[in-house]
Amino acid sequence: MPKIAITGKGGVGKTTLTALLSYVYARRGQDVIAIDADPAGNLGLAFGLPAHLDAALKPIAEMEDLIYERTGAQKGTIGGVFRLNPKVDDIPDTFSLRHRGVRLLRLGTVRAGGAGCLCPENALLKALVTHLLLRRNQTLILDMEAGVEHLGRGTASAVDAFIIVVEPGLRSLGTAEQIRHLASEIGIKRFYLVANKVRGPEDETFVRQHVADLPLLGSLPFSLTAVAADQGGSAVFDQAPELVAAAERIADRLAAM
Ligand SMILES: Nc1ncnc2c1ncn2[C@@H]1O[C@H](COP(=O)(O)OP(=O)(O)O)[C@@H](O)[C@H]1O
Ligand SMILES: [Mg+2]
Repeated sequence: MPKIAITGKGGVGKTTLTALLSYVYARRGQDVIAIDADPAGNLGLAFGLPAHLDAALKPIAEMEDLIYERTGAQKGTIGGVFRLNPKVDDIPDTFSLRHRGVRLLRLGTVRAGGAGCLCPENALLKALVTHLLLRRNQTLILDMEAGVEHLGRGTASAVDAFIIVVEPGLRSLGTAEQIRHLASEIGIKRFYLVANKVRGPEDETFVRQHVADLPLLGSLPFSLTAVAADQGGSAVFDQAPELVAAAERIADRLAAM
């Protein structure tokens, strides 16, 4: 089952695409887990998750007791010894929330600290993402930020599609180049672009011209009903059939690669 990472500049539509693809794969009968790996993310809202359930979906990075229990780190100490390969295989089922046929899991903020801060929560998140990438029978969609946090050299080859979402504008295309560079450095290979908020053929041509060497997997049209869905707190896939259709085509293309 496909393992898909979705990145791009803030606001381009990563979370929207994550929700759409999750919905499409779940409708095709796949066991889908969608991971909110963007600390500024709001994946639950794109799924139309009611506020009280969204609040109940606690980030793994903030589950102190779990982090201490699994890594063996000592409370109240900085540094110290802890396990780098904590048990994580039960975490996806235990701490995810099933909604509209998709499992949702929130990772929370990875503590930054130069080149790979060694803290227990990072060790747990890293082990968890690695485990999810290697789980054969589950479709994984990782809603990330504009970078490669959570991925590493060891797991790059497990990513079937590294999708960079762009808008038809120079700023998000510039960010796409930076992300591509970072991702190449850890060994990511299968890069794809998805153009979002496309208003017509000129927009698609603009994207093709500016990132000529990255394959364009598909385009999502600019959608007023997607805007309305965001304003109304309803699921984007319920409100914007034209975006669902575009996500279907993207899923078909991925399957054909
Ligand atoms: N195809 C689209 N047409 C119109 N608005 C869109 C479209 N895709 C996303 N949006 C809107 O753009 C905003 C940012 O989308 P989001 O998916 O949250 O981006 P990201 O996760 O990359 O920050 C949201 O308000 C969303 O509703
Ligand atoms: Mg987002």
